[in-house]
Amino acid sequence: MGLGRNKLAILLLVLSISVLLYLLLPSAKPDLEEPRVESARSDPQDSMNVSVRTATLSGDWPTFYREATPRSALEGGPAERFAVLLLHGQSFTSQTWENLGTLQILSEHGYRALAVDLPGYGQSLQAQPMSSEKGRTDYLLHIMESLGARQPVLISPSMSGLFSLPLLLQHPDRLRAFVPIAPVGTKSFKPQQYQQIQVPTLIVYGTLDTNLGSQSLESLQNLPNHTLSPLKGAGHACYMDRPEEFHSSLLMFLSKL
Ligand SMILES: *[C@@H]1O[C@H](CO)[C@@H](O)[C@H](O)[C@H]1NC(C)=O
Ligand SMILES: *[C@@H]1O[C@H](CO)[C@@H](O)[C@H](O)[C@H]1NC(C)=O
Repeated sequence: MGLGRNKLAILLLVLSISVLLYLLLPSAKPDLEEPRVESARSDPQDSMNVSVRTATLSGDWPTFYREATPRSALEGGPAERFAVLLLHGQSFTSQTWENLGTLQILSEHGYRALAVDLPGYGQSLQAQPMSSEKGRTDYLLHIMESLGARQPVLISPSMSGLFSLPLLLQHPDRLRAFVPIAPVGTKSFKPQQYQQIQVPTLIVYGTLDTNLGSQSLESLQNLPNHTLSPLKGAGHACYMDRPEEFHSSLLMFLSKL
């Protein structure tokens, strides 16, 4: 797609990139590494010059915080719309959205695109995976708060449904819109629960994804304000099989919010 070498004015917001390990209880966690900080930041010229760090607390979840940049810079220019928070599937990380060009494309269209590495993945490898539904919901609320994205559009493929679905059903007011992509865990909730939720939803799935795709569709179709986006000839990771269709369908949906 030629996005790798772009010279575009609005740069991709690269999330995540600093892992800071605090050893709160050094004796309890003797095998943890020394605090480690990496960072990647967007172009200094850019109005979306946000550097996000991931601080991994041992035994806790990663916390995100920003550099001391002026609030206006953090919120982007006047053209900026709202935040789009991207989760990822089991075999993927936030990097996937960078490689696919999704972060870039969203930024170009004026959205604040944020991709996180869920606990146990990518730069959040040191964080303990969360075993409870409440833990996962709190985790998402926490990062949304920390990123100053109180009511984002949430994009949630596959495994990340374990995080996004409880949030959708218990805190629908915290989502501007929801974009499930064959998420896992839809059957943990009853049709009536979905029917209560008014959040605008774009249901994305690959037409060849006869397992999780069709399974989740059954539940998600109960959401009253949904739009379907079947990606023809695509499998489970349908956004990777058909990135152009995925992006255009997503942009269309976002433009109506
Ligand atoms: C962007 O970040 C760099 C590095 O932290 C900083 O020097 C620069 O002033 C920032 N630019 C804006 C517009 O905030
Ligand atoms: C349904 O979602 C669309 C955005 O996709 C929004 O414009 C519309 O107001 C919503 N309808 C209801 C009844 O909430």
